[in-house]
Amino acid sequence: MKYDVKDIKLAVRGALRIEWASNNMPVLRLIKQRFLKEKPLKGLKIAACLHVTTETGVLAEVLKAGGAEVFICASNPLSTQDDVAASLVKNLKVSVFSIKGEDTKTYYSHIKSALEVKPDITMDDGADLVSTIHQRPAYLHKNIIGGTEETTTGVIRLKALASENKLRYPIIAVNDALTKHLFDNRYGTGQSTIDGIIRATNKLIAGSNFVVAGYGWCGKGVAMRAKGMGAKVIVIEIDPLRALEAVMDGFEVMPIMQASRIGDIFVTVTGDINVIRREHFKAMKDGAIVSNSGHFNVELDIDGLKLLSKSKKVIRDFVEEHTLKDGRRIYLLGEGRLINLAAAEGHPASVMDMSFANQALSAEYMANNYKKLKKQVYSVPEKIDKNIARLKLKSLGVKIDVLTPQQKKYLASWEMGT
Ligand code: ADE
Repeated sequence: MKYDVKDIKLAVRGALRIEWASNNMPVLRLIKQRFLKEKPLKGLKIAACLHVTTETGVLAEVLKAGGAEVFICASNPLSTQDDVAASLVKNLKVSVFSIKGEDTKTYYSHIKSALEVKPDITMDDGADLVSTIHQRPAYLHKNIIGGTEETTTGVIRLKALASENKLRYPIIAVNDALTKHLFDNRYGTGQSTIDGIIRATNKLIAGSNFVVAGYGWCGKGVAMRAKGMGAKVIVIEIDPLRALEAVMDGFEVMPIMQASRIGDIFVTVTGDINVIRREHFKAMKDGAIVSNSGHFNVELDIDGLKLLSKSKKVIRDFVEEHTLKDGRRIYLLGEGRLINLAAAEGHPASVMDMSFANQALSAEYMANNYKKLKKQVYSVPEKIDKNIARLKLKSLGVKIDVLTPQQKKYLASWEMGT
């Protein structure tokens, strides 16, 4: 069995941490029980480019229970939990190719290792597998029946590929499921981003000017949690509707240049490139902290920051101090990579339970339906989405009402008014 992990001896610790995550993933547990009986993924090879975390470990167990052979590479050079990677290899016999802190060359060589197994299904977080496959036709094997995509950034890339009529197999956009983005992007990113910033810096959030760039579901979550910890939250947004929403949610909204002068802590969650640029770094206060929680490390113009700096040093793990020519210091967290996974452990298991339930059930759906699907990006079927919500509520011990026959009829009618 091929693999490349940091240290296989870390497997004992990894197994315990995966067990801890699993205790908080009741929906995946139910799916696993059914998969063990029905084996819906029997004979399929799944190449998964995901953050190698305890939660991904639980998903791998579920996919294997369904009969799949699983091969994993990292979806970010800094997000791998090396003990989890070791445990997956040793205890679950999953081929893992990922090491925390790997350089870009190793990152892509690991992606290639996962693709060399000729997968039937690709599972992406950020679309690097699909992008690699589409740029190197040698990887476009006949056996690929479809794929799934976890994240907003990946779905944007895939839709761009599809709009050029270049997408070569169907993909299910897991991110578009309500049980994914309403919870993972909002509550998951909200909590884990603040967690990453605190673990990296141990700074007090209360009373700080906390700047959130982007007011999508991730930005909403981060802003909400920063506010909850007592920060004065400023939102940067280019979309008028979202900006208005931020205003009415009680946040100050202003252009990035204005916020640059007053912010203490900055987080980008836009999915776009060069959101905080050289001119913004130039305007920042001494001691400003800049971080990113979007998928790729492109949201901060790090080259621009380097050009302004006369020196830099790593002052704490995941904290790089850049001293500008006039002596001001700017602190860059986690090399501008997603701080929630670089300095913390990513989203809590309880929320990944729903995201990865969508992954497992979408893989099953693909296995059963790929012949009917076109080379397009598909949403997760509503039935799957609602079922995951039902199972999650049940696991939380929450009961809800059902419509009475009269209410059902009323909702299907148009005659009755005041
Ligand atoms: N993305 C964000 N948090 C994650 C986690 N805990 N595991 C896998 N992918 C993630």
